[in-house]
Amino acid sequence: MAAQEMLRTEALIIGAGPGGYVAGIRLGQLKKKAIVVEKDKPGGICLNVGCIPSKALINAAKYYDKIKNHGAEIGLLADNVRVDMVQMQSWKGDVVSKLTGGVKTLLKANGCDYRTGTAKLVSRNTVEVTDAAGVVTTIQADNIIIATGSRPIEIPGFKFDGNRIVDSTGALDFRAVPERFIVVGGGYIGIEIGTLYAKLGSKVTVVEALPTILAGNDPEIIQLVARKLKKLGVEIMTGAKAKSWTETGGKAAVTLEVAGRDVTLEADKVLVAVGRRPNSEGLGLEQVGVKIEKGFVPVDKHLRTNVPGIFAIGDVAGQPMLAHKASKEAEIAAEIIAGHRAEFDVRCIPAVIFSDPEVATAGISAEEATTRGRKVKVGKFPFVALGRAIANADTDGFVKVIIDAETKEVLGIHVVGNGASDIIAEAALAIEMGALADDLALTIHAHPTLPEAIMEAAKASLGEAIHIQNR
Ligand code: NAI
Repeated sequence: MAAQEMLRTEALIIGAGPGGYVAGIRLGQLKKKAIVVEKDKPGGICLNVGCIPSKALINAAKYYDKIKNHGAEIGLLADNVRVDMVQMQSWKGDVVSKLTGGVKTLLKANGCDYRTGTAKLVSRNTVEVTDAAGVVTTIQADNIIIATGSRPIEIPGFKFDGNRIVDSTGALDFRAVPERFIVVGGGYIGIEIGTLYAKLGSKVTVVEALPTILAGNDPEIIQLVARKLKKLGVEIMTGAKAKSWTETGGKAAVTLEVAGRDVTLEADKVLVAVGRRPNSEGLGLEQVGVKIEKGFVPVDKHLRTNVPGIFAIGDVAGQPMLAHKASKEAEIAAEIIAGHRAEFDVRCIPAVIFSDPEVATAGISAEEATTRGRKVKVGKFPFVALGRAIANADTDGFVKVIIDAETKEVLGIHVVGNGASDIIAEAALAIEMGALADDLALTIHAHPTLPEAIMEAAKASLGEAIHIQNR
């Protein structure tokens, strides 16, 4: 072992994803001495191999599909439009580098130290960091934030080999568009990446064990997404489980169990996206007494674990596994370490699926509200009645606003339609501020824009929609 270095800090953050790096920046702003330790690259899964690169490719595929398949309709004739996957990947790489480079710059600008190495707790306030050369640095920290994220779940018989059987990281790095592409798991990742390659020309089959894709979402929304997938030529097999695969003639022959029968499909690539598991092992957490439940590190609303001075944020600290939840938790943990009064007290965590059309939700569904004993009213406004959506030639979608029938409080907003990912910001703000349907309905929304659908759906919940007939 090489020579040891000893450091002292007020806060040590393990992991530099959207949880860890945000905690480092905020601690720096609050004038706390902090060090972020990352074993891989700054930015974590989200910036390097998740949210950002997937959106880059999804966007590129959207342009391609629009021009190739819908250009003529709007008078755009582009012959011989092709996909150069190698160039697309190179452009995606540039997008990622810009953002990951920015993370290091921001940490530095805020006075937070950044180190590359693998961290392991050796006591409640001591962490050993081993770098690639095997040099160990011992860091004494008054506070430790665990922000180690999650990794894809493997299913029996489908070991990721980086070639035929890939996780989302592998699927976002293909050098060529696979001719036949099987996606195991019709959740967030499966649907986003499946749609992307269907648009680029793959014949895609989605294999989902449950009776529906995107389980847990509004059935009407799921129906719309499923319909569009079918239009793109995607085959959706629900109630189907991937059992095994073999390499046959340069392809993967995948055996599925569908309604008690075995079915075999061939594919060039198989993406397995059946959920993610928290990274809580190998960190020395159990040895220092940190409780772990089903792989997650339980925390209170201050992001404290059961061990004083040790915090956990992001995917490792529990569902939902969303980058923006991690970043919010990071700010709160940093503020608590700096002695501020703060707690994770939010009314809603918006969620977006970058499918086609996009799906975005904030707050609760009508069913959930009814279960909680609220009497609800639902206002709905379709994109087909929205000037901007018609001008965009993208009218599949609607906004649903769920309000308390008596108080008119906005309880939930559910959007399906391209642009939903941006529209949802207003919905989250409204719910967070305890807005009433009237607040949304009375606010002047610029015309012609997609968020007008929120205003109209809110008006519809009050029986006052302008551009559709009120029921
Ligand atoms: P998921 O939980 O969304 O979906 C996994 C799906 O796989 C489920 O529908 C499940 O029923 C199915 N499944 C499980 N075992 C199966 C089997 N043996 N055969 C067939 N189907 C099977 O998980 P996913 O898509 O891997 O994403 C993981 C997490 O990453 C999500 O929970 C989400 O929080 C996050 N994420 C968020 C995104 C966003 O915010 N836009 C995008 C991508 C991921």
